[in-house]
Amino acid sequence: TSAFPIISQEEVTTHRSLEHGIWVTFKGGVYDITEFVAMHPGGDKILLAAGGALEPFWALYAVHNQEHVLEMLSEYKVGEL
Ligand code: HEM
Repeated sequence: TSAFPIISQEEVTTHRSLEHGIWVTFKGGVYDITEFVAMHPGGDKILLAAGGALEPFWALYAVHNQEHVLEMLSEYKVGEL
């Protein structure tokens, strides 16, 4: 069993601003990346994915296809879809 709560896509969609938090999804996981946004090596582009899926963007920016990036993301997990 998972230690994480189930979160709806609809709820994820409400978190797409610094005020309400920036959440994204990746492979069924939900991540609160609010604190990470300012540290992102790729700058404000990260906000394009706010409230939605990382997959379409990471397909374009293959720099994310590395173990250390996935480890970083995992630290921000808050739930599962
Ligand atoms: C680079 C993390 C979302 C665009 C990077 C790097 C990390 C990272 C660690 C540096 C990788 C390396 O050089 O080894 C993340 C995380 C994300 C995220 C954890 C989501 C939670 C996005 C999104 C976009 C994006 C959604 C585009 C829409 C870029 C670009 C770079 C980059 C363009 C290259 C920057 C450069 O080297 O000049 N990201 N990223 N990232 N990211 Fe992201």
